[in-house]
Amino acid sequence: MTKFRTTALSCLAGAMLLTGAPTMSVAQDAKNPQKPALPKDDGEKRILETIVEARKGQRYANVSEADGRLMRQLVEAVNAQRVVELGTSTGESGLYFSLALRKTGGKLYTYDIDPERSKVAKANFEKAGVADLIVMTLGDAHETAPKNTEPIDVLFIDAEKPGYDAYLRELLPLVRPGGLILAHNMHQPAPNPKYIEAVTTNPDLDTSFVLMDGAGIGITLKKR
Ligand SMILES: C[S@@+](CC[C@H](N)C(=O)[O-])C[C@H]1O[C@@H](n2cnc3c(N)ncnc32)[C@H](O)[C@@H]1O
Repeated sequence: MTKFRTTALSCLAGAMLLTGAPTMSVAQDAKNPQKPALPKDDGEKRILETIVEARKGQRYANVSEADGRLMRQLVEAVNAQRVVELGTSTGESGLYFSLALRKTGGKLYTYDIDPERSKVAKANFEKAGVADLIVMTLGDAHETAPKNTEPIDVLFIDAEKPGYDAYLRELLPLVRPGGLILAHNMHQPAPNPKYIEAVTTNPDLDTSFVLMDGAGIGITLKKR
């Protein structure tokens, strides 16, 4: 059994712990107690409706509902003021973050290299009524993201997979002690082994891998 397969199996245990789900799947079936997200207010309803609409005919590999909800929960729980996202795509993960940021008073700084996807993301943020919470930057995130040197509460890495370890080197110094680094696709598609190595061998970091329903998220705490 490879090292990563072992990790993936422990992801399953982690997901079971986090969700209370008896299986690795979070599909909403008899074996899984998770239910669709329930809006608390009109603003939340508008965002959730926009996510549903955005997913129709979607051809990009954006975050799943389970991953998006976990990310929102983490951002809201740490009271994040500044979330940095590498890989906006069409804005679905950004919409999940906005559910938290409208409560914490924080902002999302999101980066993408693809003008077409960014255009769709901008329209989705406007439709959801959260455009004022989100600063979008177009270009290669390796160059654009490190230009802003404010402390980061939550860093979400979800751009090109071979770049994950470089993104970590470029932005880890800006993550505040007690902040989180979330990394998508830690199970599939095949994760970047240099990234896994970097977040599992640094004593300043503590990392868990959570497999919700396929992609897998790395959750790394930058210790105080
Ligand atoms: C998996 S998608 C992001 C999905 C998005 N976070 C979501 O869940 O809604 C990856 C995105 O990274 C972008 N990307 C790839 N290389 C990049 C780079 N060097 N700089 C910025 N964005 C990049 C792609 O254009 C694509 O939109």
